[in-house]
Amino acid sequence: MPFLRKSFLDIKNLNVDSIHHLFEIARKVRTMTPLSMHHKSVAFVFAEPSTRTSSSFEMACHKLGLKVLKLDATFSSLQKGETLLDTLLNLEAMEPDAMIVRHGSSESLEDISKTVRVPIINAGEGTKSHPTQALLDAYTIMEERGKIQGEKILIVGDISHSRVARSNFELFKKLGAEIGVCGPKELLSNLDVKQFDSIEEGLSWASVCMVLRMQRERHSEDLTFLNDAYVRNFRIDIGRLSKFSKEGILMHPGPVNRDFEITSEAMEDSRCRILTQVKNGVLVRGALLSQILGVSI
Ligand code: CP
Repeated sequence: MPFLRKSFLDIKNLNVDSIHHLFEIARKVRTMTPLSMHHKSVAFVFAEPSTRTSSSFEMACHKLGLKVLKLDATFSSLQKGETLLDTLLNLEAMEPDAMIVRHGSSESLEDISKTVRVPIINAGEGTKSHPTQALLDAYTIMEERGKIQGEKILIVGDISHSRVARSNFELFKKLGAEIGVCGPKELLSNLDVKQFDSIEEGLSWASVCMVLRMQRERHSEDLTFLNDAYVRNFRIDIGRLSKFSKEGILMHPGPVNRDFEITSEAMEDSRCRILTQVKNGVLVRGALLSQILGVSI
């Protein structure tokens, strides 16, 4: 029971067996009848915007019969200068069974979890990590491609500002995938992975293409000068997808800047799995919650 009553903060402490076990449970969540309401409760603290992560955790709670306490961070005392640690300590005093937290503050969930005893689930932490997104992405690749070991995963775009990319690199490597990246040099970190200068070359190599959002809210300098060149050189469109394997899958963690990093037409391609990722988010997050809270399925 590697997850029971423990915080889930990053990928680094996961072992491969526990990941595959979690995916087995996610498959059970897909077909389960929703459980009737019981006494366990989960507090949500989202101090940054979210559509998919917050809603999929909430849908997962409904499936597991868990009560949800949602703190609207924009109207919370975080706005009056209360720290994230104090916010979570106050919620802990109300005795939830777990807390799901997204934030971009300088406080670290790892440090906070040394003081807060209720399990904390990282729902996206600054530019550092988004481990449940990585899990649902890996689960999607497993389900759609039949395996992840040996898959050639091309990650395209704003890698240096992406917490999703950081968690995905860690998880995909752990699961034996090959990783390649492609994007403007201003948006690539110094990475120990294959780099493609041309998107066509990258797409010809890949079995999975993961497109990232241009994360303008995280750019410390003005990078708008890149926009035209980005669209010209890296945007995923139908023409470029002709270089991509017919059996490949096209992914994006969302939210999408539609027609910037990927065209609407490409999003309608039969290889596109963006909404499948969202659907799988409920299953994987449900599996994780069930393991942390000891809810049997
Ligand atoms: N992928 C993702 O984290 O989406 P949200 O920001 O909408 O939760």
